[in-house]
Amino acid sequence: MIDAARANLPVGTGAASWRHRHLLDVDQLSREEVERCLDLAAELRALRERGERMDTLAGHVIGLAFAEPSTRTRVSFEIAATALGGQVVTLPFEASSTTKGESLVDTLLTMERTGVDTIVLRHAASGAPYLVARTTGLRVVNAGDGTHAHPTQALLDALTLRDALGSLQDRVIAIIGDIGHSRVARSNMHLLATMGATVRLAGPRSWTRGFEQWPGVEAHADLEQALSGADAVMALRVQLERQAGGGVPNLHEYTARWGLDERRLTLARPGAPVLHPGPTNEGVELTAELAAGSRSLIGRQVANGVALRMAVLSLLAS
Ligand code: CP
Repeated sequence: MIDAARANLPVGTGAASWRHRHLLDVDQLSREEVERCLDLAAELRALRERGERMDTLAGHVIGLAFAEPSTRTRVSFEIAATALGGQVVTLPFEASSTTKGESLVDTLLTMERTGVDTIVLRHAASGAPYLVARTTGLRVVNAGDGTHAHPTQALLDALTLRDALGSLQDRVIAIIGDIGHSRVARSNMHLLATMGATVRLAGPRSWTRGFEQWPGVEAHADLEQALSGADAVMALRVQLERQAGGGVPNLHEYTARWGLDERRLTLARPGAPVLHPGPTNEGVELTAELAAGSRSLIGRQVANGVALRMAVLSLLAS
């Protein structure tokens, strides 16, 4: 049995407290805090691979409230909390009293009153996790809010990139595609800049406009320029469900102009890995061969999601 202190070993040096009650976005984290979270995730990953039992979350009740669809994030949070000895309760939004008009805050207050102490929330409204953090006593983990932020995705991406590249300092990471609708892109832009990397964005102009103002970010009108010499390339899903205002190009045209394939990747650093947060529109953002090939870290991203979310839940509970 590994106890909480052991499971928190890399957190480290005496006082293992974490100054944040919530994880709302990565812009709240210093570089040292990001490193500490990634180090802890790597340690927990190793302990889990060795089959060690951990009870860091014994006595904790973690609520999963996903008001938007999810596979990777929801499953990995459930496995992460369970692997740490926590109890998990899932709110089925579509079968809950929200369908009778109960508000999000009242719904989550009800969960708090029944004993939930930490809520993992995905919601279509940007800012919803901030509202819940302000108006309830729950610890809140943002599992994706609207187009705003997806902090655990950015952290697991950083873990995956760090495994592949070592330090992210002075690395060039190209992010290609539907930046404008992407909470993953926004959290990654914050986090990669914090870690000393340069982010190159490329995609249809209406999806990249304005992002050149972000610190550490270059916006390119040309895919080839963005890929040139890049240390890693991340493709983003074309978010068909968020195109109410128009702007989605014909998917065939999108793939022809912005889709990743082996030939285009020759512009990047030799062997540069390819990432995608998932789910993919198969064959649209990158070819099926690239997604399943030796340069693809897509499977590693999903697997790292468990250890990274174990680390986040441990830190918030510490
Ligand atoms: N990347 C991501 O958030 O995937 P899910 O929507 O499947 O959780």
